[in-house]
Amino acid sequence: MAVKDSLNAGELRDYYDSADDINLTPGWVDWGQHGAPEIEPFLWRWSQVEPLVLKSGEVVTPDRDVERRTMRLATPGLQRGTTHTLLAALQLLLPGECAPSHRHTPTAIRWILTGEGAYTTVEGDKCAMEPGDLILTPSWTWHDHTNEGSSPMIWLDGLDIPLVHYLKATFFEQFPEDTQPVISEGDSVRRYGAGSYRPAWEQVDVPYSPLLHYKWAKTNEALQNLAGVNSSPFDDVAIEYSDPVTGGPVLKTMTCWIQMVRAGVHTKAHRHTASKIYQVFRGEGYSVIDGKRFDWSQGDFFVVPSWAWHEHVNESGEEAILFSIQDTPIMKSLGLYREEPYVENAGNQPVTSRFEG
Ligand SMILES: [Fe+2]
Ligand SMILES: [Fe+2]
Repeated sequence: MAVKDSLNAGELRDYYDSADDINLTPGWVDWGQHGAPEIEPFLWRWSQVEPLVLKSGEVVTPDRDVERRTMRLATPGLQRGTTHTLLAALQLLLPGECAPSHRHTPTAIRWILTGEGAYTTVEGDKCAMEPGDLILTPSWTWHDHTNEGSSPMIWLDGLDIPLVHYLKATFFEQFPEDTQPVISEGDSVRRYGAGSYRPAWEQVDVPYSPLLHYKWAKTNEALQNLAGVNSSPFDDVAIEYSDPVTGGPVLKTMTCWIQMVRAGVHTKAHRHTASKIYQVFRGEGYSVIDGKRFDWSQGDFFVVPSWAWHEHVNESGEEAILFSIQDTPIMKSLGLYREEPYVENAGNQPVTSRFEG
């Protein structure tokens, strides 16, 4: 940029001040305020998270004031989300409790971690929550959670709240009663859970997957089957949960993956504009994110920011299984998805530091 010297320093300052007075900002001056916040990769250890989540049961009740008892995975530098578009939080529901029915424009998923005997009702369909299940509560669908069991339930909530908030499209409504009427039980699974087989006469007119509940047994079967035949150099054995009607991601703004990093595998590194939040469902290993080594084991969470180099390593003798939510559909629908392989050093980053947490 060539800045002319026809104005002296004082005249230039006066010019900028007069522009500022009427809220005009010269585009050629770097004011140091551009761009999204820098987000560092981060990791949360289950051994530290679980006791504090359980303790939250002594602090609040999920009534109409609190709505939900959640603890956010608060990536340093972010006031709202876990990445710039997505928010992940741990939710606790104790035996006998009900998190009351409501709906909101932000979309959510539930990834079930521990406990038994609770269910989520989504638009009248009662979905039993078991570890390894994925339950969708798409934008503006009524949902409530009830624990009829005898143990605390903990699950991971994943939402697109930061994006929807930024777009100023956040709306929220409470259902008149604490729980919505249960119309069916496992209906979405019976209709659409068979994958390629679906009701011939039904027209799906919702902008999300009509299958709301992805059961762990089926997910694991698909993962094990795929592991027997093929894998990706960057993710090893990775499956995207899909909408049985469109074949695309289950939600407009978020996609969910289950992936296996097999024993002894060290993937190649790559980066993409999609940001990801991982939960280590089983096993142990480490990921190298922008040159930093993040060791993880069962239950941990970690975040891979947009455009950060990342690769996964499993040096144990057992398979590792990772669940993740990603904002890929946002980036793809806006034409902003970009991906790049790491080509130096045979595709693996030099490790320059280690996350201590
Ligand atoms: Fe909600
Ligand atoms: Fe990736």
